[in-house]
Amino acid sequence: MNCQPPQLVDRFGREISYARLSVTDRCDFRCVYCMAEEMKFLPRSQVLSLEELFEVGRALVELGVRKLRLTGGEPLVRNQVMRLVERLGQLPGLAELTMTTNGSQLERLALPLRQAGVRRLNISLDSLQQDKFRRITRSGDLRRVLRGIDAALAAGFERIKINSVILKGRNEDEILALAEFAQGRGMDLSFIEEMPLGLIDEHNRALSFCSSDEVREILQRCYTLTPVDDSTGGPSRYYAAAGSAARFGFISPHSHNFCHLCNRVRVTVEGRLLLCLGNEHSVDLRAVLRDPASGRDTLRQTIIDAMDLKPEQHHFDLNAEPDIIRFMNMTGG
Ligand code: 5AD
Ligand code: SF4
Repeated sequence: MNCQPPQLVDRFGREISYARLSVTDRCDFRCVYCMAEEMKFLPRSQVLSLEELFEVGRALVELGVRKLRLTGGEPLVRNQVMRLVERLGQLPGLAELTMTTNGSQLERLALPLRQAGVRRLNISLDSLQQDKFRRITRSGDLRRVLRGIDAALAAGFERIKINSVILKGRNEDEILALAEFAQGRGMDLSFIEEMPLGLIDEHNRALSFCSSDEVREILQRCYTLTPVDDSTGGPSRYYAAAGSAARFGFISPHSHNFCHLCNRVRVTVEGRLLLCLGNEHSVDLRAVLRDPASGRDTLRQTIIDAMDLKPEQHHFDLNAEPDIIRFMNMTGG
């Protein structure tokens, strides 16, 4: 175990123990809230190699990060991604390796992921109706994702959480069906408010916005919810439903009253260390990784120094042009 004092502490005294690492900007889906229909992806030279991704993961864990989440794009469409997962899974000091996936590759990869040491999975699922699912993802096949979820359930993960982005006029009528689906299979379910990341023209975000309060009201028609304590340091609030082991979460990135507890950083697949979801503050780790003059110490020191850039809180405004032109697939969930 890693018993050193925390080395990643920001100016506000927050200890960074959680990092999200994006392993690709690519995805086999084109979800309307995440991507434009036609996307230009990064050329290979700008993307961190699997070796570089591992170096970043190892440095973070050596500095006290206890939990790593692999994200994308869709992490499982990255070539040979399992080699990275297997190596990260063996890092001493890493308490938890997790992944956020759209489920499309899970039929094939759920078991290998479990065997590589991934104990929890987050799977995105916004609709249980084939045509609606297709309209939201533009290219996804619901049946395949459902087979992926079944494979994940059979692989014996300690916890599987479904993530649903709820949009007015699109899938808000499925809130209870999604709840029943997750609860009936012993999975947690988090409802996510859409975040203004990247310019999209498919829908007006201010009109489609469905707040966590609205979702919770609908859920309470069928479930008695009690808040549960959580210390994940993120924008999620969890509730237990009476008579069920499953939990419901509400992810409200627009509220910033969790910022004072924020324990996380993100790394984009270009190797930019992002100190806050809603801010542009970042540090270029790729330049350090590719500088023949710098080694593992320089990489670690760059990450330590970056902590001073972590802002106190973020701001989102649905009616303004997004100041964050980065798409979610560039941000890493
Ligand atoms: N707002 C909220 N959630 C988003 N996701 C992708 N883009 C957005 C956005 N603009 C979600 C996906 C997935 C997770 C990785 O992030 O649905 O559940
Ligand atoms: Fe792909 Fe996830 Fe973005 Fe959908 S939300 S396009 S599944 S990266």
